[in-house]
Amino acid sequence: MKTDFIVVGSGIAGLNFAIEASRHGKVVLMTKKDLMESNTNYAQGGIASVLDKFDSFESHVEDTMRAGCFHNDRAAVEFLVREGPKMISKLLDLGTPFEQKSGVLKLTKEGGHHHHRVVYAGDATGHVIEKTLIKHIKSSPNITIYENALAFDLIVRDDRCLGVKYLLGNDVKAVFSKAVILATGGVGMVYRKTTNPNIATGDGLAMAYRAGAAVEDLEFMQFHPTALNKHGAPPFLISEAVRGEGGVLKNSNNERFMPRYHEMEELAPRDVVARAIAKEAESGEVTLDITHKDPELLKIRFPTIYKKLLEYGIDITRQPIPVLPAAHYMCGGVKVNLSGETNIRNLFAFGEVARTGVHGANRLASNSLLESIVFSQQVVEAVKRLEQEIEVIDFSLPKLVEGNFDEVKAGIRETMWTNVGLIRNASGLSTAIGQLKKIEEALPMGISYELAAVRNLALAGRLIAEAALARKKSLGCHWRDDEN
Ligand code: FAD
Ligand code: SIN
Repeated sequence: MKTDFIVVGSGIAGLNFAIEASRHGKVVLMTKKDLMESNTNYAQGGIASVLDKFDSFESHVEDTMRAGCFHNDRAAVEFLVREGPKMISKLLDLGTPFEQKSGVLKLTKEGGHHHHRVVYAGDATGHVIEKTLIKHIKSSPNITIYENALAFDLIVRDDRCLGVKYLLGNDVKAVFSKAVILATGGVGMVYRKTTNPNIATGDGLAMAYRAGAAVEDLEFMQFHPTALNKHGAPPFLISEAVRGEGGVLKNSNNERFMPRYHEMEELAPRDVVARAIAKEAESGEVTLDITHKDPELLKIRFPTIYKKLLEYGIDITRQPIPVLPAAHYMCGGVKVNLSGETNIRNLFAFGEVARTGVHGANRLASNSLLESIVFSQQVVEAVKRLEQEIEVIDFSLPKLVEGNFDEVKAGIRETMWTNVGLIRNASGLSTAIGQLKKIEEALPMGISYELAAVRNLALAGRLIAEAALARKKSLGCHWRDDEN
């Protein structure tokens, strides 16, 4: 089968690209579950952009660079920030119901930001964006949607990407195109505790690496400071916006400890808050307390968190929330330039799978949705200029295999959590690399949905651990306790 553009992934990045690219050719949009399922769908806090008259591009750039420990590419950051307001207008034009008062967008504040600049929709910002974009996707005659279609390998010849191999039900197939676009999102599932949904298994990263694409900054896995820490409950995200609206962190002595760690207190950059919580948790439970705010306002401002936590027996209007850090976001990824081009011709990447240089060593809150939409827009500009014919070559497809890999997957996630977590050292990282290599070697040939996930998790985990071992000094979210 042939098409002009293949995009893998239906989060904000893939959906926005498909809508725009469909004006220039036929698009196949492939996604491994249903269209909604993505990290985007669970994004709570919002999307950052300079919209307030007291704010400035310079301030957003500086906050992004400071959070990223100046490991960011300044040109990429400046580009991101300047494109921000246009992208918010675009999302509004498409019908995204961001919160407004008298026709003016409401703005909240999150960690590392010196201004109110986060546009939001309650605590379900990603969900409303996803719903809005999908409505437009479904009405475009130029977009063919494959749900439950798992891309598992790229077809590359002479350093040019020609297509994608994929699994649809029990059928193993291939599709060829002028350009292949990876918008496969993150890799949080490689850790035992993560805020990410099951789809985040690092597939795009692993596929691109196997095909010869350069990857970078993988040691900078961001741990969100405040995931629910309750026995029997998942590490559900408690948005940074809760701290933005006045929530305070307390240790087991009921002491508000963040002022001891950073001048921005609860709204310090994420890596700082995550390490402070982990340190305080050594002597007892850490909680996030917003009970001093009006209960009715809390229910309106954070309806998802309020309802979800009630399911776990916590009423956030009356009880502090027990929290601990959990794996959240991959700051690095497949290396791309400002046009989303990888080192393989006609292979593009954007969104969480890509390393654009925007985030440096630690992402600033709510810059990810922004990055995904800004760079997906850029890739449209790049692919619409592609002129060469679609090339179809002979290819081989793997056999479908059966088997349950749950235990292997749990082993990978435990190894990563124990040895490649918030705080690392050479000994733990080497142990993880050894164990992951053994797992990779022991996996069978062939393909299935489960095997692909476990294969990609093992490879992505090893790449993260290798990058972490290679960076001997702590920086941003990469923290080593054995540096000297
Ligand atoms: P995703 O939205 O993750 O989409 C990836 C898509 O690729 C999915 O549809 C997936 O099914 C598909 N896919 C993956 N592999 C394959 C494959 N092999 N074959 C076919 N399809 C595949 N960022 C912010 O800026 N603001 C926030 O408030 C915010 N809150 C967050 C809250 C949570 C709980 C989480 C988990 C993340 C949050 N983030 C936030 C981060 C942000 O949501 C993500 O980084 C962003 O949504 C990534 O978008 P994406 O389109 O690149 O990937
Ligand atoms: C959150 O709401 O705390 C998540 C924001 C983000 O990941 O940028």
